[in-house]
Amino acid sequence: MFRLVDETSVDTLKLSIEGREYDVPVGISVAAAVLLCGITRLRNTPVSGSPRLPYCMMGICFDCLMTIDGFPNQQACQLEVRENMTIEIQQGAAELLQQR
Ligand code: FES
Repeated sequence: MFRLVDETSVDTLKLSIEGREYDVPVGISVAAAVLLCGITRLRNTPVSGSPRLPYCMMGICFDCLMTIDGFPNQQACQLEVRENMTIEIQQGAAELLQQR
């Protein structure tokens, strides 16, 4: 679906998406990394379970909510990838957790 324009000069890091390990470029958003890895949904809607992908990529639409490092409702387009990050597709409405 998506690919890097120049794959030769990119520093990468490892992260996990749905339990599978990927190498992704340093400095990109989680949403961009997920798309780059060929994942075709970031969450399922609470009512119908319809799959959703990022739409605006700038923090407006909230279609990119994912569970990241165990915290649900994270806007994947607003977070930069980190080494060993654990990313999961969010199923429906998540419970609200208090972050520190
Ligand atoms: S893609 Fe719209 S808020 Fe993240």
